Amino acid sequence: MSKRHILIVGTGSIGLRHGRNLTALGARVSGMDPRPDRRADFAEAFDADTFEDLETALGSGGFDGVAVCSPTRFHVEQCIPALEQGLPVLLEKPVAKTLAEARTLADALARTGTPLLLGYTWRWWPPLARVRELLAEGVIGAVRYVDFTMSAHLADWHPGEPLAEFFMSSAELGGGALLDESHWVDLMLWFFGRPDSLSARVEKISDLEITSDDNVDMMINFANGLRANLHLDLYGRPHRKSIRFIGEGGTIMWSETPNQIAVCTEAGEVWREETFACERNDMFVAVAEEFLAILDGGPVTTCGIDDGLGVMALLEAARQSHDSGRRIKLD
Ligand SMILES: NC(=O)c1ccc[n+]([C@@H]2O[C@H](COP(=O)([O-])OP(=O)(O)OC[C@H]3O[C@@H](n4cnc5c(N)ncnc54)[C@H](O)[C@@H]3O)[C@@H](O)[C@H]2O)c1
Repeated sequence: MSKRHILIVGTGSIGLRHGRNLTALGARVSGMDPRPDRRADFAEAFDADTFEDLETALGSGGFDGVAVCSPTRFHVEQCIPALEQGLPVLLEKPVAKTLAEARTLADALARTGTPLLLGYTWRWWPPLARVRELLAEGVIGAVRYVDFTMSAHLADWHPGEPLAEFFMSSAELGGGALLDESHWVDLMLWFFGRPDSLSARVEKISDLEITSDDNVDMMINFANGLRANLHLDLYGRPHRKSIRFIGEGGTIMWSETPNQIAVCTEAGEVWREETFACERNDMFVAVAEEFLAILDGGPVTTCGIDDGLGVMALLEAARQSHDSGRRIKLD
């Protein structure tokens, strides 16, 4: 079979990463980006064709799939023409800026029947899959409380790139902690399903010169009595990504650094640690493998549009709660 040919829309940080992984897996890539410097870097990295706009790129034909890696504001409007051409899409998270836009994309998927894989990539991270198994096995008994923390100073994300040029700084382009770090909302839904209600703060509180939000706190109630707190910020150093699950029979701690899970099921501080050797890029490789399998007719198994709609509904409720000062009941 000839090489799969993927159009990468948005050839910044994640677009280049998908480009490297897809080519390592035997595919060929072309790129679309409005910035000439980004197009030049992409063309040089992959000896690839590049395009300044999506219409010309799609019009040139010959693609087997499209990876949408642009700022969030453009996700839906760029997925739809690809789907209408019957091209399967790998869409970087989040689906969109708003739930209404995300629903437009869901309608286009239903209309075209073309598959879409959504890049909430932590679902492909083996230590988190292991945590999910431990929870399902009931290792810590009935889980009563979960605490999600993601704290990472935005100036450290793309060193060398002025913050003003990074879409994360811009509320208009869909940057900010709530949308961009919705990974942790997605994981909460993946572990526990849909909550019953939440109250939230979605704010800009740091001195970072950005228009997007940089601080999110949510208090979430589930119908079965489970309680969750979730904190996302864009000003914290050192960076931290961690989840603590407290059950009636013990505690599970997951952290990105160190790359481990620790389980304690006794009264004393006796922790059983499981350390992992996986590296960050591995989850992106796993996403690329699932996408290539979809191009061969395989199913979307790990993350799809319904998962993305679930996240968007929760983000919308968080914004409503912040604006109204009230706890919001989820449908
Ligand atoms: N799954 C993950 O862990 C993960 C990690 C990083 C980023 N992302 C997601 O990927 C997307 C891009 O993030 P990034 O960090 O690569 O940002 P980035 O700023 O590094 O790259 C975005 C690129 O899109 C280009 N662009 C701007 N307007 C465009 C348009 N209209 N059409 C096409 N391209 C356009 C920019 O010139 C830039 O090159 C975001 O949605 C982000 O949330 C996901």
